[in-house]
Amino acid sequence: MNYSQILKKGENLLKKNNIKNPYLDTELILSKVIKKEREEILLNPNNKLNNKDIIKFKNYLIRRKKKEPIAYILGHKYFWKHKFFTNKFVLIPRPDTELVIEEALKFLPDDNSKKILDIGTGSGCILLSVLKERPKCRGTAIDISIKAINVAKTNAKLHQLENKINFINIDIDKYNSNNYDLIISNPPYINSIDLNRLDDDIKFHEPKLALSGGSDGFRNIEKVIVKSKKLLKINGKLILEIGHKQKDKSIQILKKNGFYINKLSKDLSGKDRCVVSTRL
Ligand SMILES: C[S@@+](CC[C@H](N)C(=O)[O-])C[C@H]1O[C@@H](n2cnc3c(N)ncnc32)[C@H](O)[C@@H]1O
Repeated sequence: MNYSQILKKGENLLKKNNIKNPYLDTELILSKVIKKEREEILLNPNNKLNNKDIIKFKNYLIRRKKKEPIAYILGHKYFWKHKFFTNKFVLIPRPDTELVIEEALKFLPDDNSKKILDIGTGSGCILLSVLKERPKCRGTAIDISIKAINVAKTNAKLHQLENKINFINIDIDKYNSNNYDLIISNPPYINSIDLNRLDDDIKFHEPKLALSGGSDGFRNIEKVIVKSKKLLKINGKLILEIGHKQKDKSIQILKKNGFYINKLSKDLSGKDRCVVSTRL
C-alpha cells in the first residue's frame, strides 16, 4: 500500500467514526509512523509502506478511532513556541492558556530576575514557556500528581530548563514556601455538570484530576486564590486562567482575599479566560 492509499483508508475509517479532522489526524499518524514531515507525504504519494509500518499505522488509527486524543497518540503538542511531551497523565496544553503567558511576560521585564510559582503545572507548558522567554527568572512547579510532575520534568530537560525549576509533588493546600513575585495557574475548573457534557476525547482520556473543579467548578480556583494571598509578596501578581462563566465569582473571591483586579483577558473566541490581579 502507498501513502496516498493508506491515507484514504485511514480518513474513511475516522470519518465513519465521527472523528473531527479525519484527514489531518490520518496524515499526522502516517507522519509519525514513517518518521518524516507531512510535506514528505505530500511530495511522495506513491511511496510504499513496509508491513511493519502498516501494522503500526493501523494500531495508532484504532486508538484514534476510539477517541484517544491525537496529542497522546503522537506524544506531543505544540504550545506557545515549543513542542511539549504529552501523555495521558497530563492535560493537553490548550491555545487559550497562551493568554497566561502573554500576561505574565508583560509583568516580567527582560533583564530582571523574578520568582515564579506555577500551581498545577501538568506538562509544565506555562512555566517552561515563560522561562524560555525570561531566562533570568526562576520557578517552582507544583502538582498533586507525581505522574504529571514527571512529565513536566521531562519537558524541562527537553528545553534545557531543569536547573531553573524546583519541581514539587504536593497538594497546594500543603505548600507553604512564600515570597513569590508571580503566581501563574490554570487550575481544574470544570463543574460536575459540564464535566459530563465534555466531548468523549476529553471526558474519557484526559485526567479527571486536571479537569474537575468540584460541583460548582470553584473548588480549586478558591484554593489557589486563598493560598496565593499567603505565598505572594505584597504587590505580587496572580495570573489565573478561569472558565468563561466564572468571571464574576472569581473576582468576588479575589477581592474578598485582598486582591486588586488589574485586568480580564478574553480568549481566542472572545470569552473571559484570564484574570490578572495584585496582592495588596
Ligand atoms: C488544568 S490542569 C493544568 C495543567 C497545565 N498547567 C496546563 O495549563 O496545561 C490542572 C493541574 O492541576 C493539578 N492539580 C489538581 N488539584 C491540585 C491540587 N490540589 N494541588 C496541586 N495541583 C493540583 C492537576 O494534577 C493538573 O495537572
